Amino acid sequence: MADTTLMDKLVSLCKRRGFVFQSSEIYGGLGSVWDYGPLGVELKRNVKDRWWRAMVQARDDIEGLDAAILMHPKVWEASGHVAGFTDPLVDCRHCKNRFRADDPRIKGTPGQPDAQCPVCGTRGSLTEPRMFNLMFKTFMGPVEDSAAVVYLRPETAQGIYVNYLNVLQSSRQRIPFGIAQIGKAFRNEITPGNFIFRTREFEQMEMQFFVQPGTDAEWFERWREWRMEWHRSLGLSPAKLQWHQHSGSELAHYAKAAFDIQYEFPFGWQEIEGIHNRGDFDLGRHQEYSGKKLEYFDQAQNQRYLPCIVETSAGADRVALTLLVDGYREEVVEGETRVVLGLSPSVAPIKAGVFPLVKKDGMPELATTLYNELRQQFSCFYDDSGAIGRRYRRMDEAGTPFGLTVDGDTLANRTVTVRHRDSMQQERVGLDRVAGYIKERL
Ligand code: GAP
Repeated sequence: MADTTLMDKLVSLCKRRGFVFQSSEIYGGLGSVWDYGPLGVELKRNVKDRWWRAMVQARDDIEGLDAAILMHPKVWEASGHVAGFTDPLVDCRHCKNRFRADDPRIKGTPGQPDAQCPVCGTRGSLTEPRMFNLMFKTFMGPVEDSAAVVYLRPETAQGIYVNYLNVLQSSRQRIPFGIAQIGKAFRNEITPGNFIFRTREFEQMEMQFFVQPGTDAEWFERWREWRMEWHRSLGLSPAKLQWHQHSGSELAHYAKAAFDIQYEFPFGWQEIEGIHNRGDFDLGRHQEYSGKKLEYFDQAQNQRYLPCIVETSAGADRVALTLLVDGYREEVVEGETRVVLGLSPSVAPIKAGVFPLVKKDGMPELATTLYNELRQQFSCFYDDSGAIGRRYRRMDEAGTPFGLTVDGDTLANRTVTVRHRDSMQQERVGLDRVAGYIKERL
């Protein structure tokens, strides 16, 4: 049974502490679209930075790219999205709501008199299923009627395929090599939900690795291993991560083999990243639809071929949600409930809170100097309001791993109290050592 209370608590914490807000809230909100507040934007940025560091900066066989969201409409014909990126939908003629035909809340067979609308309960009001394309359409050019129809990209991958030769030639890479990009994607999801898990606007972190045909299965296995390792390195509980292999009927039209990395959310095991062996489907289709040769000439082997692609595709929002869910816990401390976000220091939005114990005796001045020095190096938060215990609790909820308190002893011996979020233990560290102490632990 889904632990909905945990999700409700998390949504409320995210709003209270400034992680995530509903989009356009003052107008009643926009369905399944969310805005990231001051802490959320830092969390998501840290996720993306970790990914970029691991995939692009730490390797010499992957190049970065930032392709535009709008692309030539033919791209989506070649990719198969115009014809196949669809869900079967049914409408209720009575209450005008729309559902996926396989919505488990529907009783009976849509289109038949026995079928019952899950919202208004009317029998026989559901239409036969119709195919509905999930891509958002818009118009390019000043006059709507004659302007070209363009789509908001439903995945970032296609921007990589159409630029593969540009990147290959300009970077002087050789196969095997990869192209990575982080960017927004849009899907008019019919059953979005579970907070930022499935939304209509989201960010993907995708990497396409171009390999010689025949070596794709081997690269696929390597990438599976590396990607699981990356999720573990974020501090996620290993027991809550698992593989899910796509069976024949689940495989997307482009995939020869596919595995999802799943996390055990309160609403069940769900995909956070997909690793796909796409064969030569993508470059083959773009070659066919554009009429441009996309083959690679392998000088060493004096051979020409169309590369195969191994794709790793993760959602930045989904990984951020996974970290929030995995980190959330409640503990009773001295008769009071303490809410903690046990985020790994490397992804925590704020690394250290700086507090003067009281607003007198030179403590605010010393704490301000410390704060100004530390925030040049990592994100910090200065807080001088309320009891020190309350200030610690606020930082616990924000996931801040270290609290630094300037007190009477600081003035006497130039040390501060370092308070650890998870153990709540305290130790004294010299003012001149505190920056290094924290950096070592990030
Ligand atoms: N290029 C392949 C591709 O897009 P996908 O399985 O459809 O594959 C990859 O999406 C990842 O993108 C998913 O694992 C998920 O993390 C993220 N994602 C997909 N749809 C999403 C949505 N509606 N909201 C949030 N994240 C989404």
